[in-house]
Amino acid sequence: MDALTTEQASDCAATDGGQRAKKVFVKTYGCQMNVYDSQRMTDALAADGYAETQSMEDADLVLLNTCHIREKAAEKIYSELGRIRDLKAERAAAGSELLIGVAGCVAQAEGGEIIRRAPAVDLVIGPQTYHRLPDVLARVRGGNRVVETDYAVEDKFEHLPAPKKAEVIKRGVTAFLTVQEGCDKFCTFCVVPYTRGSEVSRPVAQIVAEAERLAEAGVREITLLGQNVNAWHGEGPDGNDWGLGRLLFRLAEIPGIARLRYTTSHPRDMDDELIAAHRDLETLMPYLHLPVQAGSDRILKAMNRRHKAGEYLKLIERIRAARPDIALSGDFIVGFPGETDADFEDTMKIVREVGYASAFSFKYSPRPGTPGAEMDGHVAEQVKDERLQRLQTLLVEQQQAFTVSMVGRTMPTLIEKPGRQAGQRVGRSPWLQPVIVDEKAGGIGDIIEVRITEAGYNSLHAVPA
Ligand code: SAH
Ligand code: SF4
Ligand code: F3S
Repeated sequence: MDALTTEQASDCAATDGGQRAKKVFVKTYGCQMNVYDSQRMTDALAADGYAETQSMEDADLVLLNTCHIREKAAEKIYSELGRIRDLKAERAAAGSELLIGVAGCVAQAEGGEIIRRAPAVDLVIGPQTYHRLPDVLARVRGGNRVVETDYAVEDKFEHLPAPKKAEVIKRGVTAFLTVQEGCDKFCTFCVVPYTRGSEVSRPVAQIVAEAERLAEAGVREITLLGQNVNAWHGEGPDGNDWGLGRLLFRLAEIPGIARLRYTTSHPRDMDDELIAAHRDLETLMPYLHLPVQAGSDRILKAMNRRHKAGEYLKLIERIRAARPDIALSGDFIVGFPGETDADFEDTMKIVREVGYASAFSFKYSPRPGTPGAEMDGHVAEQVKDERLQRLQTLLVEQQQAFTVSMVGRTMPTLIEKPGRQAGQRVGRSPWLQPVIVDEKAGGIGDIIEVRITEAGYNSLHAVPA
């Protein structure tokens, strides 16, 4: 689920006692951690007098929360900045001002280079300094261009305002909660350790307090986020060092919280306690995103994943023994430097052996500054294309088989929002599938038992059981 392009979806019409409030338009790229960060920046800006708008044309401040994971993702930002520059020029001609900000992983990776390439940009702010956003904006309004990409020494989460109840309600009955940030694993293809910094876990009390606020506002399902979420650890109220498994048990005690998920996890950090949580904790949904990236031990080694294909398979076996109905999803990279046809066949093989309910797969994209980019044996683009196509065909087959296997089954569904068609609502199965039901089946936030009657390409139709 990483690396999706997501646009912020919540509307806000806050006015400021008749005076026109300043408005911010936030566009979010990349992973769920960016979605969460965008919400927290919106919260920080609300405290600074900015209402959120869904239209760039309407905004006084446009903030792009960017992703640097693959070349295409980063280049997208520059073409978007070109369009916004034109809007800024139109505004200036009409005598009003549009500020442009770049946040996220491109901001961290490229810093001041962004302003050199796109001089219309007023501010560049890295992921570890979002709590300084109001201060940065004040400096921008004072006539400066600001680049703020230090790794802050203070804990940004402690300084960011907590989400307001009204905002949480608007965002819906499911919510993200970042518990861990950064990464020390240094896979040789990956920019994250450079853009997000080293691994930091938020303290238990802070996480519990935020989860309680979410629950009080009506949130039923929380997805804990981290670049390496299962590396999370922290001192519990009992004075012991807790891992993610313990934390999940604690969060499950919060009244109103009916479902927990977490993403993204690394195979090396799946400890016994976390596997036991999948066995014993009903609230923990039977769906796990556990990327393996490749099936060849040689490539896994070159990627510095620090585990072998066989170890991953054994781990899956243990997880399935603990929670037989668990569904797996994964991430895959094809065409890493040195990947031969035989190595690629190993990836196809591991996919067949595991059987994924869903997956993301990518062509290797050399990232400046990462060891992979310097390696010999870069794979031709056309070969990458062919491999990706074969892999995706297999993954889509598996996903469809999984979806179709739901027909006739009965399952709890969390009603999330109105459907596209009148009279319908969309819920979510334990396995993250959208479930379409009649609106009479239940209200938003209800968890109802449904029987699946039909499987579409990407969603299920159901009737109350
Ligand atoms: N922390 C997660 C991954 C975060 S990045 C993990 O360790 O699994 C999300 C996904 O983007 C990765 O799983 C990987 O499949 C993909 N990715 C990362 N860097 C990439 C690159 N240079 N080229 C292609 N895909 C990449
Ligand atoms: Fe990137 Fe590897 Fe860290 Fe995941 S574990 S964020 S792929 S360096
Ligand atoms: Fe992209 Fe940064 Fe997330 S590079 S995938 S937005 S951590």
